[in-house]
Amino acid sequence: MDKKLFFQEHWITIEQERLARYEDMFVFSAHQEPLIASLKLKKGLTVADYGCGPGFMAMEIARRVGPTGKVYGLDINHQFLERAAQRGRDAVITHLQYLHLDGASLAAHSLDRLFCKNVLEYVPDLQQTLTEQFSLLRPGGLIEIIDSDWGFVIVEPWGEEITRKFFAAAAPAFKEPHIGRKLYAALRQTGYEKINVQVTATVDTSGSGLGVIKNMASYIRKFDALPGQQRRQMLAELEQAITDKTYCFVLPQFAITAIKPERMTQ
Ligand SMILES: C[S@@+](CC[C@H](N)C(=O)[O-])C[C@H]1O[C@@H](n2cnc3c(N)ncnc32)[C@H](O)[C@@H]1O
Repeated sequence: MDKKLFFQEHWITIEQERLARYEDMFVFSAHQEPLIASLKLKKGLTVADYGCGPGFMAMEIARRVGPTGKVYGLDINHQFLERAAQRGRDAVITHLQYLHLDGASLAAHSLDRLFCKNVLEYVPDLQQTLTEQFSLLRPGGLIEIIDSDWGFVIVEPWGEEITRKFFAAAAPAFKEPHIGRKLYAALRQTGYEKINVQVTATVDTSGSGLGVIKNMASYIRKFDALPGQQRRQMLAELEQAITDKTYCFVLPQFAITAIKPERMTQ
């Protein structure tokens, strides 16, 4: 894989082990209720989950809008989509459809809501994707974007310098590792109004979020960005800290909602 294109290609082709890890990590859970609440769902709405991954959130949204609504899970990875579609069929949710973004052509102004979680850090051209999403929403429609910011992370007992070095080494995995802080301005530029930005942080002291750090370590291994011995030592230190109860991982998530104006001014 070309290091320069890795941020995109590692989503088009995903190793089985990583696929399985995501299917574990992204299962819908009660702590995501506030994200669903911000979408202000109602029966009958048409909603897309852009970059739906394993599709659990799209399935949950489909349950909330009911069979008079319609939900699309959109992604660039075929395996995610096929497996998500199978889960949808198994659950007999017929108003849920998973589409590959290469071939998907949702009509302009067809969506009441667009949800996009932990995706925009990977897209090749942020403004182009935001513009495309904007055109899919109907006037008055609501977008909700959730994204992290990898320059805004705490990992103890590593401390600030090692944490910064680690995430800088993993940066080629993202097109924009500092996406969170960029979104307000980018949404304004796209034409949204009523932009509301919240930052929430998950504080992991049990090791439940260690998978995220291990993912980063696997990218670093691919890029050969830190000596293997050092990378292994860093992870071992965290494993030990979990046992010693000195481990703390804080990852902020920017949660943004915005409205497409009923009338465009220009
Ligand atoms: C970290 S996962 C998040 C999955 C899901 N949104 C969630 O939060 O459970 C990132 C997702 O973005 C998708 N993705 C990456 N680049 C994309 C692009 N250019 N357009 C749309 N989706 C993309 C990946 O295939 C993957 O499903």
